[in-house]
Amino acid sequence: MVDDARYLDVLAREFDSLVPENALKWKALQSDRSVWTFDVPDQMVDFAEQNGMQVKGHTLAWSKELSYPGWFLVLPRAEQLVAIRDHIQAVVGRYAGRITAWDVWNEAMANDGSGLLGGVSEDDIADAFRWAREADPDVVLLYNDYKIAGSGRKSDDVFAMLQRLVAIGAPVDGVGFQMHVNLADAPPSGAEVAANMARYEGLGLKVTISEMDVRIADLAGTTDERLEAQADYYRDMVGVCLAAPNCLGVTFWGFTDRYSWIDARHGADDPLLFDEKLVEKPAYFGVLDALETTR
Ligand code: XIL
Repeated sequence: MVDDARYLDVLAREFDSLVPENALKWKALQSDRSVWTFDVPDQMVDFAEQNGMQVKGHTLAWSKELSYPGWFLVLPRAEQLVAIRDHIQAVVGRYAGRITAWDVWNEAMANDGSGLLGGVSEDDIADAFRWAREADPDVVLLYNDYKIAGSGRKSDDVFAMLQRLVAIGAPVDGVGFQMHVNLADAPPSGAEVAANMARYEGLGLKVTISEMDVRIADLAGTTDERLEAQADYYRDMVGVCLAAPNCLGVTFWGFTDRYSWIDARHGADDPLLFDEKLVEKPAYFGVLDALETTR
């Protein structure tokens, strides 16, 4: 977004934390095994530092092919694990002291109760956390996934896995609830998310809402009603995070409807806090309201 000056103005003015959407994914950094390209994330980290923002890294390992470069996908399993170790050491090491939190493993768990995806074991995930900890002793290390903010099978499966990882002493600091929700599809309630945050508090883990966007195109009602329902949902969830002692923060997956992955993924929608013209929506004022009133 470096060419959109108004976008950068709003970003610097309104937010105190930055998460690169794609620029730190493995295939963006090392599409060819012999060539590393850090230009874009370096620019983003510089921008964040110049504007007093923290940076969270997304994401070191992922159980889906999406974020891996082609050369990685064709390696035998044992060599993939070595490559993951080298990758974590290189990337966490490069940004040690500048990036304050990392998504170490993204989306490892099946939605349907069948366990970990893609031949990955809990030991592999534990190792990834250990390598990240070695590369930066102070950075906050997170597991990140979707459909785990509220109650349900996948949420319980991830909780049970993190319970086991904590029990064996893996250096996990917390969990990210992505929270890509569709208001027409019964998203988790504030009470459910609060209860889930509380059980992680019981485990000694931090939580974060890590990729929030709120689809409204499928909702009934007028445009104004849809925008108000969206504002209420944002207000509720930011309030839930503020009220939870272990909640580190809320990250929105973009902030303007001008640039959102949702349109390409699910069709035209208006999921974020600012409209296409970078004007504040009711959702923005919902967030502001939560920030001003929740203790
Ligand atoms: C998405 C990006 O927003 C898109 O631009 C990209 O094409 C695909 O990835 N869960 C994640 C994010 O952890 O990395 C995904 O981001 C959205 C779902």
